[in-house]
Amino acid sequence: MEIIMQRISLRKKTIFVTGSAGFIGSKLVLALLSTQSPIKIIGLDNMNDYYDVRIKKWRLAEIEKIASKQIHSSYSFVIGDLANKCLVDQIFAEYKPDIVVNLAAQAGVRHSITNPDEYITSNVIGFYNILEACRHSFDNGKKGVEHLVYASSSSVYGSNKKIP
Ligand SMILES: NC(=O)c1ccc[n+]([C@@H]2O[C@H](COP(=O)([O-])OP(=O)(O)OC[C@H]3O[C@@H](n4cnc5c(N)ncnc54)[C@H](O)[C@@H]3O)[C@@H](O)[C@H]2O)c1
Repeated sequence: MEIIMQRISLRKKTIFVTGSAGFIGSKLVLALLSTQSPIKIIGLDNMNDYYDVRIKKWRLAEIEKIASKQIHSSYSFVIGDLANKCLVDQIFAEYKPDIVVNLAAQAGVRHSITNPDEYITSNVIGFYNILEACRHSFDNGKKGVEHLVYASSSSVYGSNKKIP
């Protein structure tokens, strides 16, 4: 199998990162702000307390610090839920992202046994809202989203030896 890697330029792009207060999302926002210019980033996170919210707040403060030093780039943070379709649609309408990175999710296998609703809300409905917003970003001849990147949960792979 041949794997073709293509570099895409992120300069002058508007990038919507969900789960931007999370472990991966916050690192991504920091990396984008530090390496790409000019760039426009919109972060979304509901700041849930699945783990200590102080860690998430600290990450957001680190992002703010780096963002405040950028002259040509901009960073906005929206606190809200991916499962809120109106909010997601509003963000797409206002910012018209070129690239969407969906990292907002509920992770963890054990937690899913006791709190299955959270997984359906964030991972299924939330992801569905992103897919729909990306699809409709092309409506009426609009330029639309160029790239959608998402991270699946490690919970999905399971520990089966036989992978379907
Ligand atoms: N960290 C890993 O080793 C790893 C491995 C495999 C897959 N992943 C996947 O990568 C993604 C990100 O992982 P992470 O480690 O950064 O997790 P994380 O829990 O640190 O970050 C996820 C962020 O999403 C936010 N969030 C959750 N539900 C939301 C919702 N409905 N609306 C808005 N925000 C919401 C949380 O508040 C959190 O800040 C997840 O899909 C995860 O399953 C991570």
